[in-house]
Amino acid sequence: MNKAQLYNRIFVQLEDLLKKSPAPVASMATVSAVLFHKLKHYSWCGFYYLNSGDLIVGPYQGPVACQMLARHKGVCWAAIDTRKSQLVPDVEQFAGHIACDSRTKSEVVVPLRNAYGEVVAVFDVDSHVLNSFDADDVQGIEKIMQLLEPFEI
Ligand code: SME
Repeated sequence: MNKAQLYNRIFVQLEDLLKKSPAPVASMATVSAVLFHKLKHYSWCGFYYLNSGDLIVGPYQGPVACQMLARHKGVCWAAIDTRKSQLVPDVEQFAGHIACDSRTKSEVVVPLRNAYGEVVAVFDVDSHVLNSFDADDVQGIEKIMQLLEPFEI
C-alpha cells in the first residue's frame, strides 16, 4: 500500500470513528492518535487553535509541545495568515520557524475553517527527518481535516 492509499484507509476509519463522538476535543484527540500511530514518519502531530487571538495547543501526540505560539511567527501562523497549507522540507530554511522540539527537521501544517470559512485552527505534523512530507501528505491530511469542518471549539 502506498502513502496515498494509507491516508485514504485512515480517512475511512476516522470517518466512522468520528461519527461516534461529535465533540471537537474527542475528534481532535482521535485524529491525532490514529495518524501518529499509523504514519511512522511523524515525530509529533496535533492541533493549535485560535483563542482570543492567541494560537494555543490542543490535543496532540508526541513529545511535550509549545503551549502558545508567538503571534504571526512560524509555520502554524503562516497557515493561519495565508489560509493555506504549509509544506516545509527544511525548517532551518523557514524564517521564524518555532522549534518546540530541536530535533524537528521538516513539517507540514494544514488550516481548519469554521462555518464562515474563517481559519480558526491548524493541524501540525513534524518529522525528525529532512524532507519527510510531500503532496500526498498534504492532500491526505487536508481531506482528513474536512471531517472536522466546520470547526468550532
Ligand atoms: N513549528 C511550529 C510550532 C509548533 S511545533 O512544531 C509543535 C511553528 O513554527 O509554528
